[in-house]
Amino acid sequence: MKSYHITTFGCQMNEHDSERIKGMLESIGYIEASSRDKAGLIIFNTCSVRESADSKLMGHLGDAKRLKREDSSKIVGVGGCWSQSMKNDVFDRFPFVDVAFGPGQIDGLADFLATDSIETRGYFEFKGFPADLPAKRKLQFQAWLQISQGCNSVCSYCIVPSTRGRECSRSVDEIRDEVESLASDGVRQVTLLGQNVNSYGRDIPAGARVDFAGLLAVIDGIDGIDRVRFTSPHPKDMHKKVVEAVAGLSSVCEHIHLPIQSGSSDILKAMKRTYDRRRFMDRVAMIREIVPDCALSTDIIVGFPGETEEDFKQTMDVVDEVGFDSAYTFIYSPRRGTEASRLNNQVPFEVKRERMKRLVDLVQRRAAECSQRFVGRKMEVLVEGPSRTDKSKLRGRIRHNKTVNFEGEASPGDLAQVEIRGATSTTLTGIKVASPALEPVSQ
Ligand code: SAH
Ligand code: SF4
Ligand code: F3S
Repeated sequence: MKSYHITTFGCQMNEHDSERIKGMLESIGYIEASSRDKAGLIIFNTCSVRESADSKLMGHLGDAKRLKREDSSKIVGVGGCWSQSMKNDVFDRFPFVDVAFGPGQIDGLADFLATDSIETRGYFEFKGFPADLPAKRKLQFQAWLQISQGCNSVCSYCIVPSTRGRECSRSVDEIRDEVESLASDGVRQVTLLGQNVNSYGRDIPAGARVDFAGLLAVIDGIDGIDRVRFTSPHPKDMHKKVVEAVAGLSSVCEHIHLPIQSGSSDILKAMKRTYDRRRFMDRVAMIREIVPDCALSTDIIVGFPGETEEDFKQTMDVVDEVGFDSAYTFIYSPRRGTEASRLNNQVPFEVKRERMKRLVDLVQRRAAECSQRFVGRKMEVLVEGPSRTDKSKLRGRIRHNKTVNFEGEASPGDLAQVEIRGATSTTLTGIKVASPALEPVSQ
């Protein structure tokens, strides 16, 4: 029996690509092995967004090298963004790798396996949108759905445009077909994926073009889909129409991820983010006006080259003022080939680390304060399974994307009504109550 094992690093996009690699492998007769040493085909789906991602991968590659030395019939494959960024020297530096492929080249892996090749091969060409590949999902009732690939922005710190290529939107017909087939397969929640989801459609010729708000409406109209999420939008394209779609379309969840990166207009300019602090705050105000209870999350980079204490204080101010429901915080990491890595005013690591600590404390304090607004409310929860910390409880998510651990009976995939009893910065606790439709009507 042919068997495979895959280790995934990086973002949801990579998680979804791995689902498609699994789907592809299983369609050609491979089965998933429980551990790397039991697999004939060892795959790494890699990330290179920060240096820590690269160093994590090195340990795993060392393990694959050892396994290959013990059994030379094993095939080692490396896909994803790190692989793409190393395309010129992956085989020289890692001679035990048999096949390497970029994020848009899952079918390159299929091609390699079909040819019984004994030669190493690399697949790095950027193609259009990849052919539809079956995905092996972790949970039956929720699915990722890629609406575009690549990125046309030029953020000066970011390696992604060079690893994922130019932006390319999938056709609305193809997306509709995929959502319909997911819905008939029992999926209730889809998360739309793209590097910049709200610029969706710009590359589609006028006439056939549907914009992001239009796409949300198309998906909302498909029977069986109760929840639609999307990530990541770019603040520059967060227009009123998109926010109105969040407000007006019943399946689109009240959560917007709005990556600010920095609160300092000078740093935003050096980052080439194409908005300044005021424009970002205007977007937040618009969202709060149109969807008053909308959850907001963000990404923040600390210690971008040239960031002064004053710049950093502006980031702290914005975090305090907005009150994000959650924030992913990253220490700036110079990436090969990016404009910012060539700047000579890099911030010392100790300074970055100290700023990071202050930022994380503030983010957590504000998130804990914001999540108090859910206490006492009855919220709809999509049940995912048993709680990770207490198996007697269940775990799920509210539409605002907060995790809830709750008491009561329900099955994974159910929509339960939960009365929220407690809240921390990251999780809520509660107790299941009767669904509104089942509650006795009072006279
Ligand atoms: N396209 C998405 C996601 C990009 S990568 C977006 O624009 O939101 C996810 C996050 O990683 C970014 O938002 C940024 O905060 C962080 N990131 C990217 N490059 C980085 C770098 N060189 N150092 C530190 N963080 C980085
Ligand atoms: Fe990177 Fe910027 Fe594109 Fe996001 S929008 S993937 S941060 S270049
Ligand atoms: Fe994702 Fe990492 Fe690539 S964050 S887009 S897998 S560099």
